[in-house]
Amino acid sequence: MIIKKILLLGGSGFVGTCVAEQLIARGYFVTVPTRLLKRAKHLLMLPTVDIVEADIHDETTLLNLAKQHDAVINLVGILHGDFEREHAAFPKRVAKICVQAGVPRLIQMSALNADINGPSQYLQSRGRGEAAVWAIAKAHPLLKVTMFQPSVIFGEHDAFLNMFMGLIKFFPVIPLGSPDAKFQPVWVGDVARAIAISIETYETEGKTYPLVGPQVYSLKELVEFIIGLSGKARAVIGLPTSLSILQAAVFEHLPGKLITRDNLRSMQVPSTSTIPFPALFGPVNDMESTVRGYLKSNVGRAQYPRFRGD
Ligand SMILES: NC(=O)c1ccc[n+]([C@@H]2O[C@H](COP(=O)([O-])OP(=O)(O)OC[C@H]3O[C@@H](n4cnc5c(N)ncnc54)[C@H](OP(=O)(O)O)[C@@H]3O)[C@@H](O)[C@H]2O)c1
Repeated sequence: MIIKKILLLGGSGFVGTCVAEQLIARGYFVTVPTRLLKRAKHLLMLPTVDIVEADIHDETTLLNLAKQHDAVINLVGILHGDFEREHAAFPKRVAKICVQAGVPRLIQMSALNADINGPSQYLQSRGRGEAAVWAIAKAHPLLKVTMFQPSVIFGEHDAFLNMFMGLIKFFPVIPLGSPDAKFQPVWVGDVARAIAISIETYETEGKTYPLVGPQVYSLKELVEFIIGLSGKARAVIGLPTSLSILQAAVFEHLPGKLITRDNLRSMQVPSTSTIPFPALFGPVNDMESTVRGYLKSNVGRAQYPRFRGD
């Protein structure tokens, strides 16, 4: 089937924005539902994007949206909150609705280490979501699913590196929980390209792809990299497990929830993979030169006034 119209759930977010750009560059028509139009207003300048304010958790609304499209990409996800609802029940509902609406193609975003027996509620809910989607695909072979499991994703508008960029501006010493946690950061542009290519690449149907960058870093190394870019004199003090838990227990009650105990439990499993970024999706970019590249560019400079202390 030729795919022309794509329903992009979670399309207003950090990854979704990049996916929307790549889909449009490839000639697709994209609909992005959002809970609040102003959250997606940055997409308005893109051609062939339709932004609609909609409650995608309402089954009838989602069914009506799905019926008007040839493929669905589900990027909805959270770092704290009702994991069961967003990561398990919602992907299951999306897959069911694809079947009901006769949509033949579903791309589902998950996360590295998704596992119903994982150490955190986040990873467990991701595992349950994956299992539910695959069960529906198995029962309905006309629905072709591709699953993506990225490590932490970086980019100009990411939450992860930007959070540390914000912290080092204000604090001379960073007390860091889980300093030895391992990540293999992957660039948002590479993730978005993988998703866009997979839409019409038959060999990706029925497959799960871990998505990782070329290099593994500890959390402490990532923070030190950001400090190095800032040119500021900052110290990172790695906290032992007991203090990491205490810090997260405090932070999860503060606005913004910089880190929660569930996040810490997710970090018990290295967010790394021995499976390299698939060649099918093109070359993968390394974190250090990519971040330096966008910081150097005019666009990058405009994005980082906080970081530069302007
Ligand atoms: N960023 C990473 O490092 C990373 C790593 C691994 C996996 N992932 C996964 O990749 C996906 C995209 O991540 P992201 O960083 O782009 O997230 P994001 O910037 O927070 O965007 C999340 C999107 O999901 C939608 N959303 C969130 N909660 C919702 C809810 N309750 N109901 C309806 N829509 C909701 C938001 O739409 P509106 O606010 O417009 O309604 C938004 O478009 C997520 O599934 C995430 O778990 C991300």
